Amino acid sequence: MLQTWIRLGAVALASFALTAFATARQEPKGVLTPTGLRCEYLVNPLAVDVAKPRLSWELTTSSDKRNLTQTAYEIVVAKTRNLDGKDDRVWTSGVVKSPSTCQIEYEGPRLQAGQSVVWRVRVWDNLGGASEWSAPALWSVGLLNPQDWGSAKWIGDPTSPAAGTTPLPSPMLRKNFSTAHSKEKVDHAVVYVSALGLCDLWINERHVGDQALAPEWTDYTKHVQYQAYDVTNYIESGDNCIGALLGDGWYAGKVGLAGIVPGGPARAIYGRQPRLLVRLDISFADGTHRCIVSDNTWESTLTGPIVSNDLLDGETYDARREMRGWNKPGFDASAWAHAVEFDAPAAAVVAQPNGPIRVNRELHAVAITEPKPGVYIFDLGQNMVGWCRVTFTGKAGATITMRHAEVLNPHGSIYTANLRGAAQTDRYTFAADGPATYEPRFTYHGFRYVEVTGLSSKPPLDSLVGRVANSSAPEVGSFECSDPMVNRLWQNILWTQRGNLMGVPTDCPQRDERCGWMGDILAFAPTACFNMDMAAFLTKWIPDTRDAQAADGRFADFSPHPYGPDKRFSGVPAWGDAGVFVPWVAYRYYGDQRILAEQFDAAVRWVEYIRAKNPDLLWKKSRGNDYGDWLNADTLKLEGWPAKGAEVPKDVFATMFFYRSTQIVAEMAKVLGKTEEATKYGELADNIGRAFETAYISQDGAITGDTQAGYALALHFGLVPEALRAQATARMIDRFRPYDGQISTGFHSTLPLMTQLSLRGHNDDAYRLLLNRKMPSWGYEVDHGATTVWERWDGWVEGRGFQDPGMNSFAHYAIGAVGEWMYGTMLGIQPDSPGFASVVIHPHPGPDVEWANASYHSIRGPIACAWKQREKQLRLSVTIPPNVMAMVVLPTRDAAKATVDGKPLANSQDVTIEKSADSEVQCRVGSGSYEFVVQP
Ligand code: BGC
Repeated sequence: MLQTWIRLGAVALASFALTAFATARQEPKGVLTPTGLRCEYLVNPLAVDVAKPRLSWELTTSSDKRNLTQTAYEIVVAKTRNLDGKDDRVWTSGVVKSPSTCQIEYEGPRLQAGQSVVWRVRVWDNLGGASEWSAPALWSVGLLNPQDWGSAKWIGDPTSPAAGTTPLPSPMLRKNFSTAHSKEKVDHAVVYVSALGLCDLWINERHVGDQALAPEWTDYTKHVQYQAYDVTNYIESGDNCIGALLGDGWYAGKVGLAGIVPGGPARAIYGRQPRLLVRLDISFADGTHRCIVSDNTWESTLTGPIVSNDLLDGETYDARREMRGWNKPGFDASAWAHAVEFDAPAAAVVAQPNGPIRVNRELHAVAITEPKPGVYIFDLGQNMVGWCRVTFTGKAGATITMRHAEVLNPHGSIYTANLRGAAQTDRYTFAADGPATYEPRFTYHGFRYVEVTGLSSKPPLDSLVGRVANSSAPEVGSFECSDPMVNRLWQNILWTQRGNLMGVPTDCPQRDERCGWMGDILAFAPTACFNMDMAAFLTKWIPDTRDAQAADGRFADFSPHPYGPDKRFSGVPAWGDAGVFVPWVAYRYYGDQRILAEQFDAAVRWVEYIRAKNPDLLWKKSRGNDYGDWLNADTLKLEGWPAKGAEVPKDVFATMFFYRSTQIVAEMAKVLGKTEEATKYGELADNIGRAFETAYISQDGAITGDTQAGYALALHFGLVPEALRAQATARMIDRFRPYDGQISTGFHSTLPLMTQLSLRGHNDDAYRLLLNRKMPSWGYEVDHGATTVWERWDGWVEGRGFQDPGMNSFAHYAIGAVGEWMYGTMLGIQPDSPGFASVVIHPHPGPDVEWANASYHSIRGPIACAWKQREKQLRLSVTIPPNVMAMVVLPTRDAAKATVDGKPLANSQDVTIEKSADSEVQCRVGSGSYEFVVQP
């Protein structure tokens, strides 16, 4: 089985690219180059466990020709690097006449567990040329079922944990093994590893991989991830040692909200003791193999240096307990016990489909203060998520304590009240006098400031480095404009997103919560996709929403849901709806139909649950914890601020989401070719819409509640009949009066408000809100030092201080959903067809911003838009990648007022004017860069 694994290092891959174009010589040389080959959204993944992996590439060109498209492609998959030889060939697509560059399923014979294959692609362009073969890429099949793990057992330390849930020392496990049977070199080695809890793997004193906090959070009763690492270069001839440190993690440690669930344990929600599963496969140049698995021949101890560890509370490390050489052969483990074997969990062990959590950047401290003697506070200059690496000098046995916080109290001490039950405290005890370096491995914190105590003198600034860790999802967006405050806002949104991608999309990274709150990602998903390539991340997390779905169809309030979704925290409007909205966002951004196909039944069950409880189609009953338009401006504590008038009545709010989810289910059905369901849910959505209109919209366009948010959401979801839209819009504008022109929306209505203002003739108001610096506004946060987005508009107010410490995070992304408006309305980049096969560029320049630009590296390549306004003239630069069509909408009704590349629009061969009468000029362009100028 695993013998077919072949070694394909980067060097080897590069060498056969040279021979690759031989077969393409007959055709004229093409102008397109396929690059960026990925399998299941990942570059050269080592463990793919889907039966038909999907392949993708991007097209680049060095030609200055426009309108380039792919007319056909050919994929070859081979067992070895010999892609030209027929013998090694596994599958070829043949020449397929198609513009597709992504979501292309491998259609060859089923591959075996552990097998690696190489693939490449070439393409034909619309000028009749063929590309050279791409540089090769590979994917490896993971372990597909329990048998593929062979005799590997789940193991752990034999010490029975005491009653209670206090953290135990981190188990250390090790096994010596020999490769002496073979005189030959190791040809390749791959290790598959899973854990209940967290695992940090070592071979011969070398840390394996750069992944942290693995395996990631899933519902461990249903799924547990494994990771695969290429460890070819780790294996020595002769004696070897493999070792693992286990952490409590989400499995055995504290998980957000545990403290408030009645009768539940404070930690150890899934299990008390971490466990490990390993299979290491080594192949030698002479064709022999060796397989090392976890079993009771491993040695184990709890006497190691990690005395306690918890994701929320922090890590305690006693360097006096370090055992040098524990992870290399020759170590005396006579005091260690034998590991014990446990029954395999019922959960399916699945390959990790998303980019790993790891340290993706570092921050250096910008200042140290000493608010009290011996209390040093490092300022990293940026609210961040991760941990620190420190090098401090101390005396043997002395302990330093590091407490992490997002903000400071007025007198310069750290503010920790908003962390609630998350201690975020790391402790380190020196083994010897002198300097020592320490970095925790089984915890993470949300912080900008680190308070260090226990040092005998002031530490140097460079003694502490912030290690920024998050799920690695490629950052694909950029944004800049003439207003520095708005640029900082965009940075804050991105930083908040980084900090809240930890295998699941969390609400916050600092207090004892950090759950995959569904409502938050529902609001933020489009912004998230513009900022980062979320495809692989959502491929992991959307199944978590199914694991968390209650038996009656309620989607959970957060996924994973460790507290019994049937009993509590399920079925809330705009939270449960994320189980429908977010897969639809994934489809729009990545063209991923598989996500829709897998989620469809769950989405139907959700809609049917709501319908069953509310046969009159107004969602008045069964709304669970019913959070509504969370943290809308009725929650603000400001002098003179209206106490009421911002919140959409909850039944109105809920019915809007019922409508939109049902409509999305109908759209999903259409995409999936389920005609009957498409009709059924299309009709249901229409009926909900009619019920909504009858119950909540008056003849004069007033919507029950009469709130900015209500109008914005109803217009955004298309619930206002055309005849009443102007009146509803006018009322939305009118609802700014009680707030002196300020915003009053919450988590779910802020983006709809900004978008509807811009689309319905009030773009100037949208800009006014964007640029506003009075409370409540994004500008107020930025002006008051925010480096991430606050949970509440009034998280901190001058003269008043902090909001309720019970809920006051400074790194919550929901209100940062304005990011979607920045990319999608201000610059106007929107997917027109799924996966950006076609794109709309409909920029909305506005007052007091002279210029703006944004780019988005889509699954089909980079799309960019920039505008500059001067004396009412607008200059617009647009770049479209090969094989993508764009509809550029110019802000004029008169095509004669516009030029492209200095020529009248009508004279351009590359631009087709589609529509101009009675609307803004719309012109169709293909790939290339275009400079439009629109005169007043
Ligand atoms: C979280 C939110 C979440 C909410 C539910 C809060 O405690 O931090 O972001 O969506 O609960 O209303």
